[in-house]
Amino acid sequence: MIPRIGASVTNYGLAVVRQFDMMGVAVLNHAVAIARSRDKLRAMQLLTKKDLDIPTTVCTKTASHIDAALALVGGPPAIVKLHQGTQGIGVMLAETRQAVESTLEAFWTLGQDIILQEFIAESRGKDVRAIVVGKRVVAAMRRRAQKGEFRSNLHRGAEPEAIPLDQLDPRHAKAAIEACKVMALEVAGVDMLRPEAGRSSWRSTARRAWRASSGRRGRTWPRR
Ligand SMILES: Nc1ncnc2c1ncn2[C@@H]1O[C@H](COP(=O)(O)OP(=O)(O)O)[C@@H](O)[C@H]1O
Ligand SMILES: [Mg+2]
Repeated sequence: MIPRIGASVTNYGLAVVRQFDMMGVAVLNHAVAIARSRDKLRAMQLLTKKDLDIPTTVCTKTASHIDAALALVGGPPAIVKLHQGTQGIGVMLAETRQAVESTLEAFWTLGQDIILQEFIAESRGKDVRAIVVGKRVVAAMRRRAQKGEFRSNLHRGAEPEAIPLDQLDPRHAKAAIEACKVMALEVAGVDMLRPEAGRSSWRSTARRAWRASSGRRGRTWPRR
């Protein structure tokens, strides 16, 4: 069974996958792994378990914590994301403190939880997507957002360009495989920022993550 679950029917789709799984049908990705990948906060928590270079991410629910949270993510500007959402919907770039505050307050009033994330300015609108099957990258593409857009989702009008596998940066391939492993996904598309940046920018930001929300640190610097 190959699960293809639309963003608006996640829970229903997961129930169907779970049912097939319980009936002994081979499923490509298990329901629990799909559920983790659909939850941006849960996914980031899991990714901090590995020495992966992820943007500093803070979760808060309190307006009086906004300045502390912004200081942790090095903003403004900062990225605000709904916990659930795909195709770039629910991902916002807040350019000023005022914009961060009003966006967060609006979502909290609507009962929506958010994460605040470091804005990776050098890869604005550009990323690399690797398609992982099992423990191998089988395809990769560069995505470039349309003019004026910071999100590189194809659904938001970005242009894809194939990357021959022998030209894929081995660090991207390794990171994509590690990410799938920690998420327990057999087949997945892994998006990576900072595609054109040099080695020096491959520092870990995970170590500062989570401090604001839980007082705990993510892992430290990546092994090279
Ligand atoms: N921290 C960030 N810094 C810069 N750009 C980002 C950041 N997070 C997301 N983006 C941009 O927004 C797009 C959508 O974000 P993503 O978290 O992948 O949400 P979705 O699951 O909806 O695709 C990414 O492909 C990337 O272009
Ligand atoms: Mg994405």
